[in-house]
Amino acid sequence: MQPESLTLTRRFYFCAGHKLSRSDWSEEKNKEIFGLCANPHGHGHNYILKVGVSGPIDPDTGMIINLRKLKKFVEDKIVIDVDHRNLNEDVTWMKDIIPTTENFALKIWERIYQILPQLNEGGKAITLSELVLQETDNNTVTLRA
Ligand code: NI
Repeated sequence: MQPESLTLTRRFYFCAGHKLSRSDWSEEKNKEIFGLCANPHGHGHNYILKVGVSGPIDPDTGMIINLRKLKKFVEDKIVIDVDHRNLNEDVTWMKDIIPTTENFALKIWERIYQILPQLNEGGKAITLSELVLQETDNNTVTLRA
């Protein structure tokens, strides 16, 4: 029996800083809801991002997509924007969003989903099927198509 889908996943690492708070809330309320993550000068995380793509296996190469191509794509479109940056201040596509792992993962998903068709050639239909963003060993967000 053939599987319903095949996903090829590539892992990426980057470091970024953030602060979780709302300017329309008091310091006390921010502390209550976001805890240490609301500390005024922010803090950093070593993020792990996994990007999984699905599509037919190219009979010529035996691949869904050339991993070097996927690596360059995600580095150019995501990693370069966020690595060693402050997510609240430095990243235009994270502006005015509370940079929780959920919101951050969703924004990365939207960006990759929109531009992934650029990698399709010869009528291939590669799609984003799974994205995992790990903020700490204990906290991970998973998005699936
Ligand atoms: Ni944090």
